[in-house]
Amino acid sequence: MEKDIYVLAIESSCDETAAAVVKNGRYVLSNVISSQIDIHKIYGGVVPEIAGRKHIENIDWVIQKALDDANMSLNDIDVIGATYGPGLVGALLVGLSEAKAIAYAAKKPLVGVHHIKGHIAANYIQDVNFEPPYVALVVSGGHTNIIYAKDYTEYEILGKTRDDAAGEAYDKVARALGMPYPGGPEIDKAAKLGNPENIEFPRALLKDESYDFSFSGLKSAVLNYLNKNRMQGKEINANDVAAAFQESVADVLVTKTIRAAKEKGVQKVAVAGGVAANSYLRLKLKEECEKNGFSLNIPDPILCTDNAAMIGSAAYFEYKNGKRDKLDLNAVPYLKLGED
Ligand code: KG4
Ligand code: ZN
Repeated sequence: MEKDIYVLAIESSCDETAAAVVKNGRYVLSNVISSQIDIHKIYGGVVPEIAGRKHIENIDWVIQKALDDANMSLNDIDVIGATYGPGLVGALLVGLSEAKAIAYAAKKPLVGVHHIKGHIAANYIQDVNFEPPYVALVVSGGHTNIIYAKDYTEYEILGKTRDDAAGEAYDKVARALGMPYPGGPEIDKAAKLGNPENIEFPRALLKDESYDFSFSGLKSAVLNYLNKNRMQGKEINANDVAAAFQESVADVLVTKTIRAAKEKGVQKVAVAGGVAANSYLRLKLKEECEKNGFSLNIPDPILCTDNAAMIGSAAYFEYKNGKRDKLDLNAVPYLKLGED
């Protein structure tokens, strides 16, 4: 029998300070997340300098708690995994520097992880039997991608956003509706009370052959709708706006994901990233996957938004594939898939 591999993973690319212990890339022994949302909420979005400072304040206890919750000491750990990009440079540097220091002091191998590979790996935790190949829809605050996963570490980007990420569009529309940051969960809630048929918003690139997305036109359409109605003194039903906006986003995301899965000839579809927590997107994907004969894997919401368990899973598969990083590994804010 192969020896079990325990990864201590660290994630600090945006506004969550997180650490986790994961066994064999599939089993979560601990998953500690210290969220900074309450601080950034005051400013209506993530303030990079504040994020970096808060990571420094919290990283030590978060890592210690991850070890304690797993009932482990550093001696029991085989690999140190950490996100090294993409993300906010000052935020990434805190977790990565800590990972490097631990790897050096405890003489453990270091594996740098691409944040998106981490998001996708949440699927290996959600379903311990989930295996490539599959097509993944990655939708977060910073990314919108359709990805073909050939195996555990090799990914091909089929489509990407040409402007705003899906989560960014949610956050901006929510802000225009006077909802707090992060806007995604707020829109999700409001949309349940609204009727999407009362307003028609555009579906950009829906008929386009590519798997690319564009959300800035939709965002402008929502802002124009709000401004026009406000200027005319008309009452705005925020729930209807949320529902129509959400339907427009989900329509494009789901249509293109299904088309990509068909073209690649896979049987499985996976979803990842913060926006995958969206209840309407989950429902719509489930319906369309059933209709087209694809199995669908969606991580629980806690594994969709930023966490370190997903990084621990990705680090395990990279480690098994032979990846080892040196202690001069730097944070790469615009790290590209395939160059990691
Ligand atoms: O993956 P994530 O935690 O961080 C990034 O790597 O960006 O994603 C955060 C994004 C935010 O834009 C947030 O509004 C969105 O995910 N989000 C949602 C929901 N929960 C979080 N969007 C729509 N519906 C949700 N329920
Ligand atoms: Zn993320």
